[in-house]
Amino acid sequence: MCGIVGYIGAQQAAPILLDGLSKLEYRGYDSAGVCVFSDTGFQVAKTKGRLAALCEMTENGTTITGTLGIGHTRWATHGAPSNENSHPHLSTNGKICVVHNGIIENYLVLKEFLLAHGKTFFSDTDTEVAANLLEYYYEQEGDLRAAACRAVQDLSGSYALGILCTDYPDSMLAIKKDSPLIFGFGKGENFIASDVPAILRYTREVVYLNDGDMVEFTANSVSFFDAQGNALHKTPEHITWEMSAAEKGGYPHFMMKEIHEQPKALRDTISPRIKDGRVVLNELTLSPDYLRGVRRIYIVACGSAYYVGCLGKYILEKTCRIPVEPILASEFRYSEPVLGDDTLVIIISQSGETADTLAALREANTLGARTLAIVNVVGSAISKAAHDVIYTWAGPEIAVATTKAYSTQLSVLYLIALYMGDILGTLSNEEYNTMLDALIRLPDRLSEILTEENLASIKAMADECKDHHDVFFIGRNLDSATCLEGSLKLKEIAYVHSEAYAAGELKHGPISLIENNTLVIAVAGVSTLFEKTMSNVKEVKARGAKVLGLTTVNFKEEIEKTVDRCLLVPQTHPLLQPSLNVVPLQIFSYYVALVRGCDVDKPRNLAKSVTVE
Ligand code: G6P
Repeated sequence: MCGIVGYIGAQQAAPILLDGLSKLEYRGYDSAGVCVFSDTGFQVAKTKGRLAALCEMTENGTTITGTLGIGHTRWATHGAPSNENSHPHLSTNGKICVVHNGIIENYLVLKEFLLAHGKTFFSDTDTEVAANLLEYYYEQEGDLRAAACRAVQDLSGSYALGILCTDYPDSMLAIKKDSPLIFGFGKGENFIASDVPAILRYTREVVYLNDGDMVEFTANSVSFFDAQGNALHKTPEHITWEMSAAEKGGYPHFMMKEIHEQPKALRDTISPRIKDGRVVLNELTLSPDYLRGVRRIYIVACGSAYYVGCLGKYILEKTCRIPVEPILASEFRYSEPVLGDDTLVIIISQSGETADTLAALREANTLGARTLAIVNVVGSAISKAAHDVIYTWAGPEIAVATTKAYSTQLSVLYLIALYMGDILGTLSNEEYNTMLDALIRLPDRLSEILTEENLASIKAMADECKDHHDVFFIGRNLDSATCLEGSLKLKEIAYVHSEAYAAGELKHGPISLIENNTLVIAVAGVSTLFEKTMSNVKEVKARGAKVLGLTTVNFKEEIEKTVDRCLLVPQTHPLLQPSLNVVPLQIFSYYVALVRGCDVDKPRNLAKSVTVE
């Protein structure tokens, strides 16, 4: 999971590459580097650490001159973050230089082969194998594209590669398989990048490369090829969203900005799909007859997207009366799932490129299930591989910890629940209308949580809780799934150990960990189970826990009788309540991370886009 960028034009390349990399740091940020091609040959600058270190080293790119170059921001897979392992990597004779996003799975075999053929290696990376393999075939072919066509036949795994060669002082080659790569058309300049924000300042006309595609380009020309070297015709797509969507816009962190963007993201995702009081999913090719025959639904995803799936179990079972199993993509793919054409596999992914999720999707396709992806990134690998796709319109999400993508994924599940419940006849007209009405109002309810006053009071609670080392999130039913997300947020950005437990299960083990002043966050948003959850709260209070309770405004007086501090959210339709309950938990983790001095947007060891198994 790394970010790559490439530029050829009339401007100095290094500052443009650094600027592009700054928009890709969400993909990895343990080291960074650039290679610029000038009259004197390749100039490589690379260092471990954040991009800021590279900017300092190169005085914001001004110490490197040349108008053609490639850049990279890294999330280490093969070899620790170090100067040597940072990209770009040169081939043995220094003629070929590459940046790489992905993993060359057979790199050890290839490395042995290349060592036996006189190539040398200076890093622990798999990427250096690609550089040397290209050199090996270039020596035989005398042509870079022909060498690339042969090299890709040997490479297993995933790659988006930006390639420079000293014999091609005006052009660049890029190839892609299972890692994202876009080409950007400029005027007298052209670009490649892992993602649109890296080049949006310069162009809105892009091509999303498909697996196996190659692109060869200069400042004024571009040619696309397939993996065999046959010419391809590509039509550019116009990017309509604004650069501001990928900038902080006055907020101190992307995470806080994205928390505030949730009402708009929900509106953008929900509104276009409601017409004349009905949910309309025009993008679906699933026929009503097919849906009536569905006997089982799997929801497959990783991380927070999986926790959306855990909520999906309650939501879809209630509305459609079909058994639903949420399952982690990394487990699903190796579990020999029992699938057939009466199984609908719903895949959830913000990035659309998570390696395990993509592999699980392919497995589901192979085993004969229908696959429906809920994806945020248009044109991503998962959106292309699924039979059907429903996009979340959350806009670019930059903070590693997801907020608005999570919320929009959940809103798509509500749309699916209504749509299928209607077709299957499992929702009465009244139930349908009440839920739809609540869904339309959901963005406004969410806005009500984001007041200055609420933020200040959640911040005060975070300040008070900052020194707790072990935190327990407890809740029942839908709330137990919300707890999973609340707990993950606290772990990933504030580095606080926390556990999420179904409240009724506490007494089967974890209650032994409750001692004086242990922090317990009790989510009691399912009104029918409020009393049951309060019983569990009393059990932990009796053992000395400090309890922060989260519930709906109508339970204010009730909850205040039992907990030490409370967080209140507006009340909505019972199935939609998790959409609101999660928001104070996002804000709480944000402030705990802040007060603990953590890097909120770029937590240690993590990356937003996880393209490794
Ligand atoms: C990473 C991100 C999470 C995300 C997960 C799955 O761990 O930090 O926020 O939920 O990957 O990513 P996806 O892009 O497939 O939703």
